[in-house]
Amino acid sequence: MTDYKLLNSQLRALLDGETDVLAASSNFVALLYNTLEDVNWLGIYVLRDDGLVLGPFQGKPACVHIPVGSGVCGTAASSRRTQRIADVHAFPGHIVCDADSRSELVVPLLMNSELVGVLDIDSPSLDRFSEADELGIESVCQTFCELQGDRKAFI
Ligand code: SME
Repeated sequence: MTDYKLLNSQLRALLDGETDVLAASSNFVALLYNTLEDVNWLGIYVLRDDGLVLGPFQGKPACVHIPVGSGVCGTAASSRRTQRIADVHAFPGHIVCDADSRSELVVPLLMNSELVGVLDIDSPSLDRFSEADELGIESVCQTFCELQGDRKAFI
């Protein structure tokens, strides 16, 4: 069970005073990837004019472009709602990047209510993510976004 209160404190300490958003984003995903158990891929897809584009991540090389509305990430982006998927094979339109992935949690990244991208977390275990994980990851994403400022400052 992840201690999300501790993870939020560690994130604040890690990013304290860092103004370079690429460096901050890279350390954000590295901290999460190395803290969460049973995760095989974790990274950010950044919202561009023509859809989602791969950003800082940890794990195997992944698909670079995802249209908004497609797959789990694109659905999180279009709905601006967290997608917690117990079995990715049961999700219509799921995009396979790492064949090991069985469950997935995707959280929209909102800066001043504006969508800037999504955080995508994959696990090789079925139903890896609980409601507590969903709330905990949403809280660290909110902390991360608050620390970055606004849309113009993002990657
Ligand atoms: N499975 C995702 C694609 C990204 S990878 O998992 C890294 C999706 O369906 O959007």
